Amino acid sequence: MDFKDMKINEEKAVLENKERVAKDFWRQKYHVQGIVGLINDPNGFTQFKGKYHMFYQWNPLGVDHKNKTWGHSVSDDLLHWERCETALRPDTWYSKNGVYSGSGIVIDGELYLFYTGNVKDDEGNRESYQCLAVSEDGEHFERWEPSIVNQPDGYTRDIRDPKIWEKDGKYYAVLGIQSEKLEGKVVLYSSENIKDWKFKGEIAGANHGKLKDFGFMWECPDYFQLKDEKTGEIVDLLVVSPQGLEPEGDLYQNKYQTGYFFGKLDYAKPEFEITSDFVEIDRGHDFYAPQSMEDDKGRRLIVGWMGVPEEEDFPMTKNGWIHSLTLPRELKVIDGKLYQLPIKEMETIRGEKIEFSSKVKGTEKVGTGTTYELNAKFKNITGNVGLKLRVGKESETILKLDYADKKFVLDRTKGEQVDKSLRKVALDNVNELELTVFVDNSSIEVFINGGKEVFSSKILPKFGADGIEVFADNETDVEIVKWEWK
Ligand code: FRU
Repeated sequence: MDFKDMKINEEKAVLENKERVAKDFWRQKYHVQGIVGLINDPNGFTQFKGKYHMFYQWNPLGVDHKNKTWGHSVSDDLLHWERCETALRPDTWYSKNGVYSGSGIVIDGELYLFYTGNVKDDEGNRESYQCLAVSEDGEHFERWEPSIVNQPDGYTRDIRDPKIWEKDGKYYAVLGIQSEKLEGKVVLYSSENIKDWKFKGEIAGANHGKLKDFGFMWECPDYFQLKDEKTGEIVDLLVVSPQGLEPEGDLYQNKYQTGYFFGKLDYAKPEFEITSDFVEIDRGHDFYAPQSMEDDKGRRLIVGWMGVPEEEDFPMTKNGWIHSLTLPRELKVIDGKLYQLPIKEMETIRGEKIEFSSKVKGTEKVGTGTTYELNAKFKNITGNVGLKLRVGKESETILKLDYADKKFVLDRTKGEQVDKSLRKVALDNVNELELTVFVDNSSIEVFINGGKEVFSSKILPKFGADGIEVFADNETDVEIVKWEWK
């Protein structure tokens, strides 16, 4: 295919497939997804002229990782998204094999996108270009020739995913990169005028500082600061998606991971002085390459891709689509710990409500539903407790507190997914448990104990599986509120 035909081919693919895709009962209700085809990373998450803008890696032509464009949707409330014209297509010489991930920034009333142009020759050799595109209206983008061509000395051409920010009148960007020794790293670039960029140095990575082997490539870095709500201290976070970590107990169970380090960015050195362990942001099966932004309400919001590279074995591909983004969440640091909270806007889609309050021993029915929010509080726990959701037709998703193991377990093994593994996290207190759960047609997002841990996983219930049940091995006080989504 000539890369110049991309727009025509995209429009044809959308027309041919959109009805078939829309009919799929696994299509999501309140998650960003492609109208057809495959999506992955969130890109260019910004607020511009009063609207939230979400771009995303989008292959309109198939359900594989090819033909990456920047799909584009806008929203007033982060929940109802309206699709816009595709922002960037692989139709320039410097992005002909994919307009890869990047970020956005608003400067003097214009929206700038900073992204990676991916080019491969016939032998598969890669070239990587970091490029800008500018828009006055937030819909049509003028593309500039590359600002950064390939890699600095000592690295391979795996350099991508610029995340941009402004500080004291200068622009900075972190990029994911691979060293010639095949170690994942993050590098810092800076610019005075947004167009010309200078390499400042490597700020973190595998075999850098006190970190040992830590993967062969780090993708989609993000850097930001948060104010600790308890101590008032400003803390720096570096979020990365390293590739090549081996599973360790309950950790690193997905093909690739995403996590964060606390630390301090020293711009002069430059160095991100890491002061914590690497902590996985999400404990579920499907979370990768998140991107954050601060909105006009002063909230640090983060959205992830609800998927993982090289894990594409899902039955909706037969219906012409795959993947969505996660719901946006708010990040907070309280007393040195990162919390993730559902955004306030979730309350605006609450519809019909059911309440359940009882001492439970055994299993009890709570109600039915396929797309909803549910809050469950368990008190005086002395054995296993939990919820069974999307129950029916031999499928169910189980959220269980394993009392003896002191762990929370997400079990989606009974459904149409191919992967049959569990995801777990250790809890410090198992006498009480609070779960806030968002169930969409093919996903579940679970916020545990006020956002101390989050699990995001795709689920593939059989058609019509809508039961909601609560269970407890020993008598336990349970209070549940469930709101069907409007
Ligand atoms: C992460 C990633 C990025 C890249 C993009 C391509 O999922 O591999 O590093 O820019 O996806 O779609």
